[in-house]
Amino acid sequence: MRKTRFALASLLATVAMALVATPVAAQASATSELINQLNGKLLYVAIPITVLVEAILIYTVIKYRNSERALPTKENRRLEITWTIATAIVLLFVGVASYGVLADENVTHQGNDIDMNDDPVVVTAEAYQWGWNMYYPEEGNFTTGNKIVVPKDRPVYFQVTSQDVIHGFHVPKLGLKQDAMPRATDTIKTVAYEEGTYQGYCTEYCGVAHSQMYFTVEVVSQDEYQDWLDEQKQQSSSQ
Ligand code: CUA
Repeated sequence: MRKTRFALASLLATVAMALVATPVAAQASATSELINQLNGKLLYVAIPITVLVEAILIYTVIKYRNSERALPTKENRRLEITWTIATAIVLLFVGVASYGVLADENVTHQGNDIDMNDDPVVVTAEAYQWGWNMYYPEEGNFTTGNKIVVPKDRPVYFQVTSQDVIHGFHVPKLGLKQDAMPRATDTIKTVAYEEGTYQGYCTEYCGVAHSQMYFTVEVVSQDEYQDWLDEQKQQSSSQ
């Protein structure tokens, strides 16, 4: 019994540790931060369970390797209760931790409403065979082809849509992914934390030039963004 109690206690300790642990690495966006933190938490739980199961397996194989005949297991109610509770705790932890991330507006944005009080940047990402037209609907709807520029530390909304077939809007490093559907618009939200250029891809097979449907997301400082915005507006008004 001491062994099962010890196993249960170490499992509980691991779950508690996973709840308070936070990875130190800087994250590119609010979305990738949430996803990577969840991944880390689940790993903290999964590794000890893997080690425990493998240890029991190897121990059993070695201990009973010379047994002639398999003996029936004796009923052990306390052991059964222990593993039922332990499993329930693990599943509850995975469920609660995952739901917390899934329900966050930076991972699953509900509907197409945009809260304009947060001073957000709105970008319409329109896919076509085979490329992207990025628009800034709140800034006169100028287009920048397959390049998006956004400021860091400000909410950004991407309204993803398609002119023809189903495409996919995917920026792995920023944790963003949304199918681009014809005759529909789906909004996703994030806050970029790190300046830099991030590669975007089309992730639905959409025809011969699918593999060339790249785009970029450039995250810049607020001042640089304002300068770039003024330049774009001037260019579009002089045309
Ligand atoms: Cu567009 Cu694949």
